[in-house]
Amino acid sequence: MIRYSNPSLKLENARQNSGKVAWRSPSNIALVKYWGKYGLQLPRNPSVSLTLSASYTETTLAFLPRQQASKARFDKKISLEFYFEDQPAPAFEAKIEKFLESLLPIFPFLADLHLEIFSHNSFPHSAGIASSASSMAALALCLCSMEEVLFGTTLTQDDFYQKASFLARLGSGSAARSIHGRAVIWGKTSKQWETSEEWGVPFEALHPIFEDYQDTILLIHEGEKSVSSRAGHALMNQNPFSAIRYEQAHKHAVLMLEALQSGDLEKFIDITEKEAFVLHALMMVSEPSFVLMKPNTLRAIEAIQFFRQQTQIPICFTLDAGPNVHILYPKSYQERVLPFIKSELAPLAHHSKYILDQVSEGSIALD
Ligand code: DP6
Repeated sequence: MIRYSNPSLKLENARQNSGKVAWRSPSNIALVKYWGKYGLQLPRNPSVSLTLSASYTETTLAFLPRQQASKARFDKKISLEFYFEDQPAPAFEAKIEKFLESLLPIFPFLADLHLEIFSHNSFPHSAGIASSASSMAALALCLCSMEEVLFGTTLTQDDFYQKASFLARLGSGSAARSIHGRAVIWGKTSKQWETSEEWGVPFEALHPIFEDYQDTILLIHEGEKSVSSRAGHALMNQNPFSAIRYEQAHKHAVLMLEALQSGDLEKFIDITEKEAFVLHALMMVSEPSFVLMKPNTLRAIEAIQFFRQQTQIPICFTLDAGPNVHILYPKSYQERVLPFIKSELAPLAHHSKYILDQVSEGSIALD
C-alpha cells in the first residue's frame, strides 16, 4: 500500500466541499547535492540544504465539486485549471495534472473536485533559478491544507509537514527540502540523525551563524537549461563514477552536518565547494556529457576564491544544475562583501543581475 493512501477520503464524507487555500514556499540551495535517484523519487544519497526566503513560489488552490464548476472536465481523471503569473500555462498544467493523477490513491477526493491553481514566483521564470522545489512544495502544502478543510485536522503539525514533504518529493526531489526552514536533510545519513529518504527533516542543531546566512545569487545566464535535472539524474545510472560519488556524498553529508552544528566555516566552505565541483564534474563525465557552467561561472568562482584568500572573509560559492553562482557568506560580513559583489561579480552576470537572498524560516500559510 502506498504510504498515506486513504480510500475513505471521499468527497461524500467531507464536512464541506469547497474552499481556497494558499501557501508560500521558498527555494532552497543544496550544500550536499542530490544527483541520482531510484524507485519512486528516492535519492541515491543524502542531501543537505539551506532554505532561502527572497526566492519563493506562492500558490493558491481553489476547489469545488466538479459537478458545480463551469469549466469542469469530465473526460479526465483530474479536472484542473492552472495559471502561472495569471496566465493559462498548458505545459505546467499537463505536468501538474499528471502529478495529481498519481496522488489519487492518497487523495481519492481529487476525482470529484474541480481545481483552480494560481502560481506566482518572486523571481523571473527565465532567471534560470530552479522553481520546481518551491512550486512543488507550495502545491504539496496546499493539498494537505485542502484535505484539512475538507475532512478536518487529523495530523499533528509535525505530521502535516512530514506528509507535505513526502508529497513534494514525489513532485520534485529537492522540493522535499523546501517545506522546512533553515537547514534540511533529505535521505538516510548515519544513525546520529533521524532522517528519511521519503521526506526532508529540519536540522535542529544548527549553529546560529547559519540562521541568517547570506546567499547572493549571481544570474550568469538567463534562460532554459540545455539538460533538465530529470535527465541529469537519469544519466547517473550509467555514470562510471556514480558508486564512488554516492559514497562520497554520504561522507560529505555527515561532515556538512557537523560543520552546520559547530559553525566550523572552514569545513563548511571545503565541503560546499567540493560538492559544487563534483556535481558539474559528474555532468561532464556523463554519457552523453554536458556542461551547464558558462565561462563567467568560472570567472566568478575564481574571483570569489581570490577574494577569500586576500581578505580571509569566509565567503564561498555553490552551484545548482545551471550556470548561476550562489555566493554564501555570514551576514556579519555583508558590508564588506556587497561592494565586492557589485564591483567584481555583477559585471559577470547577465545585465549585471543578482538576487540578495538569505536563509530563513521556510514555508508559510497565506490568508
Ligand atoms: C542539482 O529536484 O530538480 O539542484 O527530482 O527530477 O525534480 P527532480 O530533480 P531536482 O534535482 C535537483 C538537483 C540539484 C541538487 C539539489 O538540489 O540537491
